[in-house]
Amino acid sequence: METLDTVRAEALDAVGAAADLDALEQVRVRELGKKGRLTLLLKSLGGLDAEARKAAGQALNVAKEALAAAIEARKGELARTALESRLAGEKLDITLPVRPEMRGSIHPISQTIDEVIAIFGEMGFTVAEGPDIEDDWHNFTALNIPPEHPARQEMDTFYLPGTRDGHRLVLRTHTSPVQIRTMCRQPPPLRIIAPGRTYRCDSDATHSPMFHQVEGLVIDETTHMGHLKGCLIEFLRAYFAIDDLPVRFRPSHFPFTEPSAEVDIGCSRTRGSLKIGHGSDWLEILGCGMVNPKVLKACGIDAERYQGFAFGVGLERITMLKHGIPDLRTFFESDLRWLRHYGFSALDVPSLAFGLAP
Ligand code: PHE
Repeated sequence: METLDTVRAEALDAVGAAADLDALEQVRVRELGKKGRLTLLLKSLGGLDAEARKAAGQALNVAKEALAAAIEARKGELARTALESRLAGEKLDITLPVRPEMRGSIHPISQTIDEVIAIFGEMGFTVAEGPDIEDDWHNFTALNIPPEHPARQEMDTFYLPGTRDGHRLVLRTHTSPVQIRTMCRQPPPLRIIAPGRTYRCDSDATHSPMFHQVEGLVIDETTHMGHLKGCLIEFLRAYFAIDDLPVRFRPSHFPFTEPSAEVDIGCSRTRGSLKIGHGSDWLEILGCGMVNPKVLKACGIDAERYQGFAFGVGLERITMLKHGIPDLRTFFESDLRWLRHYGFSALDVPSLAFGLAP
């Protein structure tokens, strides 16, 4: 039988040699476990006489305690080394630059729509909407563009298969059908703007088959051409953020307005670069006029009592001019580099109180 001294010396050596917590646990089981060597020694005391048993028992217990204490101490050591090596392995270099945070941005067209709404909102306009798929009555006929009218060809209409209420379906060629829908639905007085998508079969650097307009409509008993002019001058100066922006009204023709005008803003063109605001040149920017009484009648409004004005603005066009964007097609290519360059921060909500976006 092994002597206590040998077992104790071996066990303590094994504790010192245990390289990790697993190895240490194995030593504990081997020496102190149910079938451990010290446990067995303790059990073997039964065969001794009382005196010898007492002395050997005490010696054994002292050895057990010493071993248990050695195991605890080694455990602490091993845990400390494990932690130290983990800390050394997980060292952080806090001088590294932070990873860039990916943030979305507001598309310039959305930004322009928000700005236009902010400006007209201040003037008491509300936003109206209508469907992109229209019928030819709302898109043309009710706007005083009868079936054989040349404007139907000029607008390069996309026709769709099928009809609604006996009328052909089209992708709306302008936002003016929203005027019709509003007048048919709501009695005057009316003061609305209708921003939205429009479609014409046309594609080059300044035309896209899908583009955006904002329509404006004011109807009441006293509105006249002076209001139309004041309202649009105010809008253009606020949008381009140029207080003395020159604005010119030029007689024109639209079937749905009478009289009609096209609006130009002052600009300069020097060495191929266009600058809005000053100089002796003019740039056409929008169409407008007093609502044709025929249009009011088509919507069931008493044209003797009510009158008003309407206008339509191309949103890509004013966005390109304000931000110097040269090609309209890039608006819809979804090129992230373009969006990062021309996009706006979602936190800069346009408001006249803080000035519109830079
Ligand atoms: N609907 C016209 C267009 O798309 C613009 C316009 C709207 C003109 C309202 C006058 C009044 O060209």
